[in-house]
Amino acid sequence: MVAVAILAAGRGTRMKSSLPKVIHSLGGRSLVERVLQSLTSISPLTRCLVIIGYQAEQVKLALSRRHEASDLPSLEFVEQTEQLGTGHAIQQLLPHLEGFTGDLLVLNGDVPLLRPGTLKQMLSIHQEHQNAATILTAQLPNPQGYGRVFCDGQNLIQQIVEDRDCTDAQKQNRRINAGIYCFRWLDLAAVLPLLQPNNDQQEYYLTDVVNQLEPVMAVDVEDYQEILGINDRQQLATASEILQKRVKSDWMAAGVTLIDPASITIDDTVQLQPDVIIEPQTHLRGNTVIRSGSHIGPGSLIENSQIGENVTVLYSVVRNSIVQTGTEVGPYAHLRGQAEVGTDCRVGNFVELKNTKLGAETKVVHLSYLGDATVGDRVNIGAGTITANYDGVNKHPTQIGDRTKTGANSTLVAPLTLGADVTIAAGSVVTENVADDCLVIARSRQVVKPGWRLKSTQEL
Ligand code: UD1
Ligand code: CA
Repeated sequence: MVAVAILAAGRGTRMKSSLPKVIHSLGGRSLVERVLQSLTSISPLTRCLVIIGYQAEQVKLALSRRHEASDLPSLEFVEQTEQLGTGHAIQQLLPHLEGFTGDLLVLNGDVPLLRPGTLKQMLSIHQEHQNAATILTAQLPNPQGYGRVFCDGQNLIQQIVEDRDCTDAQKQNRRINAGIYCFRWLDLAAVLPLLQPNNDQQEYYLTDVVNQLEPVMAVDVEDYQEILGINDRQQLATASEILQKRVKSDWMAAGVTLIDPASITIDDTVQLQPDVIIEPQTHLRGNTVIRSGSHIGPGSLIENSQIGENVTVLYSVVRNSIVQTGTEVGPYAHLRGQAEVGTDCRVGNFVELKNTKLGAETKVVHLSYLGDATVGDRVNIGAGTITANYDGVNKHPTQIGDRTKTGANSTLVAPLTLGADVTIAAGSVVTENVADDCLVIARSRQVVKPGWRLKSTQEL
């Protein structure tokens, strides 16, 4: 039986932020969510406890929103009202785990890059050796800030000393505590009440239990980048770089071309198909899916959007929208608010679509705004056509039938329905519904007065 506890009650003073540290975002997910993700390899996991304290409600909210989709057991929140150290945090579990006799995994909520396989391996070493505790360690080129782990020749831990409590000689030890532990719960529960705050910070350190337990084994992680702890913005940036490298090399291995990868960012929630090409300065975020043969960028942002096959997106922003097969977007288009563009359309050159649906082979190619509109197939929206969808209080819909053509600079005042095969003359302000097969001219007739000049110029 395995339970897990995640330490997420601390404020994270070194972040200098009004947000609790563990809900800071790394590649589109909070740090603590990423810690939860690393648990996917542990099964069966019977309990999942999250220790919260500083801005507990915020942390709860961040987790409850996202947690629905995962296979983990439901989260149990344990409140640590005063944050007196990592040992004090784990002491809060005592009433909750009464009667539990299995192993307890403890994960720091600020160690977000751990691979699921690493946890699994650590747990199996723990069980195989029947350790009282097994602790993930790493040899770091720069161990500054981490607790140092002192072992005997058999990797059995004698002591862990926090960086700030180390003597100069102890600081030379580059083997550090990753903040990832596996305990035989009954052994841990027996010694937790004995912790004393005898250190520079006067905190109860979880790491002090190693002095009371036997045997406690250190397991070195293969890739030390996995155990980077996030304490400040610099480490957050470093973690983001590591994550980006991982994500991009995985996509390249899966058949995606990245041109100038260093200038591209891809959240690990994004799905790409083989033969997608991503050009420089392009950013793919959230729940975005891009299908085969599509060519995105340079200079584009795609967020929470579905992009079909063989679509091109050039210097454009697409958010919360759908673009179907074969459509060309951009240069300089902005799709947002559930825009849905059909197959083989063209949308671009300073065009904004908001909550607007375009049928197949429709063109909105120059300087337009379409909001709350439903547009049919093979429609041609003329340069500068605008839907006047907002009367200052409410938004109103516009419907445009198949094959209709709007002239340059048409203003479509919503609510408005234009039938199929309608032609709107350039410069029209259309305020009334139009049936199929009509020509609409809604502008004042041109007046020409021959032989007329401004008075001032007549006198010259
Ligand atoms: C801790 C370890 C250190 C290790 C490092 C790895 C201790 C004493 N030290 O140090 O050996 O090298 O992690 O990253 O454990 N938290 C609470 N309640 C508290 C205090 C902290 O829930 O009262 C949570 C924090 O939210 C955080 C985690 O525990 O997620 C670690 O706390 P932090 O203060 O960052 O510990 P470190 O100084 O990094
Ligand atoms: Ca830390």
